[in-house]
Amino acid sequence: MTSQPAGQTPAAIRIENLRKSFQAGTGSREPHYIIKDIDLTIKGGEFFILLGPSGCGKSTLLNMIAGFIGKTEGRIALGDNEIERPGSERAMVFQQADASLFPWLTVRENVEFGLRMKKVPKARRKEVSDRYIALVGLAGHENKFPKELSGGMKQRVQLARVLANDPAILLMDEPFGALDAMTRRTMQKELIRIWQETKKTVIFVTHDIQEAILLGQRIGIMSVGPSSRITDLYDIPLAYPRDLSDPNVLDLLSTIESHFDE
Ligand SMILES: Nc1ncnc2c1ncn2[C@@H]1O[C@H](COP(=O)(O)OP(=O)(O)O)[C@@H](O)[C@H]1O
Ligand SMILES: [Mg+2]
Repeated sequence: MTSQPAGQTPAAIRIENLRKSFQAGTGSREPHYIIKDIDLTIKGGEFFILLGPSGCGKSTLLNMIAGFIGKTEGRIALGDNEIERPGSERAMVFQQADASLFPWLTVRENVEFGLRMKKVPKARRKEVSDRYIALVGLAGHENKFPKELSGGMKQRVQLARVLANDPAILLMDEPFGALDAMTRRTMQKELIRIWQETKKTVIFVTHDIQEAILLGQRIGIMSVGPSSRITDLYDIPLAYPRDLSDPNVLDLLSTIESHFDE
């Protein structure tokens, strides 16, 4: 890996011959693979979508990239370094903000949590939390507690907290799946704005084809499991923000939908 100054494009993520089985796998039977033979390179700074039906193994793949769970066979590397465990350059945003926010901490305290763990001085913490609270559109809500916030606002807090730790890579597991349609659309637009501003690599998991096309520079389609693979890759060379009334978007929508009809 060529060493790069902070703030530059993150290293690529290379996945080779990746397989995952949850079985102990010492018997004579062929192991039951959830994921089988995934080969994929995600470029640094890319907005990459993993699209596939429920249960195909999207979260399993994302959790392996995060280093939360181990691989059965194959390799996942960030630059030259094999991913074996979680690292501060990768951060996960979950579908349910409730599971990740501390209910007894305010918005600001939640956002500053990681910085406090790293013993960042108070004045600097405030500077960082101010920036990210504003970036996600929560200025004025700093002193509220999670229970005083809507689902969309909680998801923004989760995002601000992850961004405050400045990971190079954002792993997002159906982060807007629990939001109503309007809030979801707003969050999608905000995420694109934040990505354009921060130049992070984003790996975004969804089973929603519209969401995939509105957000991704590239979409990897996972087949129905077990033994799920990435069967197709689509480049989406359309400018942002994207709109569902754009004929190019609608074209892609019907092309990709046809995959799932078969
Ligand atoms: N810890 C686990 N132990 C056993 N099976 C698992 C475990 N985690 C996920 N699975 C199985 O792996 C498959 C893929 O799950 P998952 O990655 O959550 O799919 P997706 O995120 O695409 O909905 C499912 O069949 C699920 O039951
Ligand atoms: Mg999942």
